[in-house]
Amino acid sequence: MSDTSNFETEVLRRRTFAIISHPDAGKTTLTEKLIWHGGVIREAGEVKGKSGTKSATSDWMTLERQRGISITSSVLQFDHHGLRVNLLDTPGHKDFSEDTYRTLVAADSAVMLIDVAKGVEERTKKLYEVCRYRNIPIFTFINKCDREGKAPLELIDEVESTLRMNCYPITWPVGLGGQFAGLYHRLKKELMVYSGKYVGDEPLEIVPLSGIGDPWLESRVRPEVLAQAREEIELIDGTLGEFSIEKFRAGELSPLTFGSAKQNFGVDTFLDIFCDYAPPPGEREAKGAVVQPLDRAFTGFVFKIQANMDRRHRDRIAFIRICSGRFERGMKVHHMRLDREIRLAFSSQFVAQERETVDVAYAGDIVGVGDTGHFQIGDSVVAGTRVEFEDIPKFTPELFARVTVSDAMKRQKLQKALKHLSEEGAIQLFIDPAVGRQDPVLGVVGELQFEVLLFRLEDEYGLEGAKIARLPLAVARWPRTSAGAPVESLAGHFTLYRDHNEQPVILLEKEWDLNWVKKENPNVEFFTSIQAARQTRPQLNAQTELGER
Ligand code: G4P
Repeated sequence: MSDTSNFETEVLRRRTFAIISHPDAGKTTLTEKLIWHGGVIREAGEVKGKSGTKSATSDWMTLERQRGISITSSVLQFDHHGLRVNLLDTPGHKDFSEDTYRTLVAADSAVMLIDVAKGVEERTKKLYEVCRYRNIPIFTFINKCDREGKAPLELIDEVESTLRMNCYPITWPVGLGGQFAGLYHRLKKELMVYSGKYVGDEPLEIVPLSGIGDPWLESRVRPEVLAQAREEIELIDGTLGEFSIEKFRAGELSPLTFGSAKQNFGVDTFLDIFCDYAPPPGEREAKGAVVQPLDRAFTGFVFKIQANMDRRHRDRIAFIRICSGRFERGMKVHHMRLDREIRLAFSSQFVAQERETVDVAYAGDIVGVGDTGHFQIGDSVVAGTRVEFEDIPKFTPELFARVTVSDAMKRQKLQKALKHLSEEGAIQLFIDPAVGRQDPVLGVVGELQFEVLLFRLEDEYGLEGAKIARLPLAVARWPRTSAGAPVESLAGHFTLYRDHNEQPVILLEKEWDLNWVKKENPNVEFFTSIQAARQTRPQLNAQTELGER
């Protein structure tokens, strides 16, 4: 195969996606089963770490393990049906929604996981809005069919009305909970019989369409359950036409499938559907350019920075989403923000517990490169071209504090630690120009971020006894003229803080104060961070501004 056709084949077989869900819907369980089908793990339980003895792949931080929550994101890679699938793990906890948002920026599609009993929950709605904003195609997986739940038609109605997106059921459950008898595949016209126990790689019992009226089947499933499923399937078949891949790729139609992640039932079917429809890497907007994945010049951006992933090495990894071209270990790239050449010396991908060295990667892939302090979230790296990707906007923080250490000798160390952690996106720093960088105001979106911060200051930087002093602030706004230019002075007595980009920002106690400032400065507009970053781009549904609460 020629080099060009090999390159194209490699790029076009990449499928990069993330799972979005409300906590407890079964994301960890589904991830585990997906990578089991991908042949990455052999034993169920290798990923699950909440109550088991083995640590979850992504739960590498001690605190995560103690709290039983998945805070950070990692990337899992496996091959299926000739495709190279990259699954980006996302944290479930709402305090880390910004992390999830950044991860979705790196994905080409998403799977919305819904608990059959709970339906569309709050976190799912917010994450869904992020996907819509980016027009990412969305698959829907209705989980926990081995448990009692809402009637499937009711659920679909709920998804369609709350999320304003049409669904296209490809499978349909016959009964739920104690009556769950299997999944009917509408396109293949066969029923996969659920035997009520872990399926694993045992062959499934498949019954053809006619089998639904089969006396053998009727002897196993209560007639009214079978009759109802038949009625529902007829109704759907009669109403829905052909699946439209165009509508799916435009984010307007979601292929929907049912299953039980825990019982590993329906997961392989989902994976097949995913492989049939998921898009390869798409084009990416850059400042003044559109980057195509098949462009030969390497481009990528940093969407995540993670310190201390491997406690034995005490290192920091920058995760780069490759947008075009081919990555080679050790290659020299141009760091656009710093305007200098750097070498991407050490690179890795993460497969279950193991970190594997990567020599070559292609558009669509994620590589983790060693970072000695050069990278910030949103940085672009390129080779043989000069393009800069759009900045990844930060969420508007709502909780503010200063951090103190009693030992004056440790202040400098604290300053350095805070800088690192802000580059990672774990916190935001606001500098009062009159005070300087030694005593920044910290902003976060959720309470747990402060807790994690204190833990990490002690654990990773040896800053024992650091204390959080909460500030009575709750509102951050970026003052701009109506044309979008930053405003350097305002009527009234305010500190104009500086954000990470040196942009002026005001921090206020309450919304009421903001109204007052607005009255005093009628020609100034006050934007949330995402609005400020995205003024020229279409706005989201105002109530759901990318998960800002
Ligand atoms: P999350 O990552 O989305 O937060 O969810 P996770 O996979 O941890 O699953 C949350 C709980 O739901 C777990 O129960 C898990 O076993 C259960 N679960 C996931 N998928 C299914 C399913 O298809 N059917 C049923 N019945 N349960 C499912 P747990 O009690 O917290 O943990 P465990 O003791 O079962 O491991």
